[in-house]
Amino acid sequence: MLTIVDHPLVQHKLSIIRDKHTSKKEFKELVEEVAMLIAYEITRDLELVECEVETPLTKTICRSLGGKKLAIIPILRAGLGMVGGIEKLIPSVRIGHIGMYRDHDTLQPVVYYAKLPQDMAQRDAILIDPMLATGGSAVAAIDYLKQQGARSIRFMSLIAAPEGVKIVSDAHPEVPIYTAALDEKLNELGYILPGLGDAGDRLFGTR
Ligand code: PRP
Ligand code: URA
Repeated sequence: MLTIVDHPLVQHKLSIIRDKHTSKKEFKELVEEVAMLIAYEITRDLELVECEVETPLTKTICRSLGGKKLAIIPILRAGLGMVGGIEKLIPSVRIGHIGMYRDHDTLQPVVYYAKLPQDMAQRDAILIDPMLATGGSAVAAIDYLKQQGARSIRFMSLIAAPEGVKIVSDAHPEVPIYTAALDEKLNELGYILPGLGDAGDRLFGTR
């Protein structure tokens, strides 16, 4: 299932992120902010339990998160740019890492690093990567998270291409995909059009 987070603030910030004139500093800040806003939407169904709280005036019954264990898993490098925003929203969230790059000739994902929380079987995983392009990286990362026994998996991106959404949905139909925009298509190099360019390079200033 694909959910496009079309909140006006998300769309406004995404327009600035896409702009090639946006500075590295602003790009990074906005990626974090949009990640936080998408995380707000993706966690909408977290369970709440009743708890007793003593205000300065009286005792009352409130609601707090029901101890559901979450893990966010950025796909390196570019997924790292979304971590800070989500951590601000959910400070106790555990963070795993999957290092993956696309071979520029074959466009196939290559895993070069992985480190997850030990108790993935008790955790709901949110896989994060700003770009869902051909879908190869996302499918490989979801395969890996399943092998590691993650209790459930959701995928979050800033921009998705229709080609990538189809590949992920066909391979892993039960994994919900959240994104701020469904763009037009991929170009011949596997970049999303109109997209935002190379997310990793823009986040880390490597080009
Ligand atoms: C980008 C992006 C995704 C991947 C998406 O990473 O961050 O991980 O491409 O492409 P796909 O859907 O076609 O697999 P990249 O390979 O540029 O590595 P980087 O994050 O280290 O820059
Ligand atoms: N990776 C990126 O960083 N940008 C794209 O458009 C596609 C993959």
